Amino acid sequence: MSDRKEPIELAICMGSSCFSRGNKRNIALIRDYIERHGLCGKVLLKGHLCEGLCKDGPNLTADGDIFSLLNSDNLEFILDEHLKGKQ
Ligand code: FES
Repeated sequence: MSDRKEPIELAICMGSSCFSRGNKRNIALIRDYIERHGLCGKVLLKGHLCEGLCKDGPNLTADGDIFSLLNSDNLEFILDEHLKGKQ
């Protein structure tokens, strides 16, 4: 486990395509994940506008790494893999 001081930044695309294709629900799932894993204050969740990657969406950026085709099945795995050992 690292002793990282700054929060891990998760940026979820709130553009109309990503939003309607799943990020409306995914943002609620991410908030729930943060709560369940005691990551409040350790993860900064924010939204951003369309970045032109709609065909790959719904998209999430985690500390600069882009994750595409998010859904309720792969989201928890992605968060586990990305956040593990970084908080
Ligand atoms: S709406 Fe998300 S990349 Fe365009």
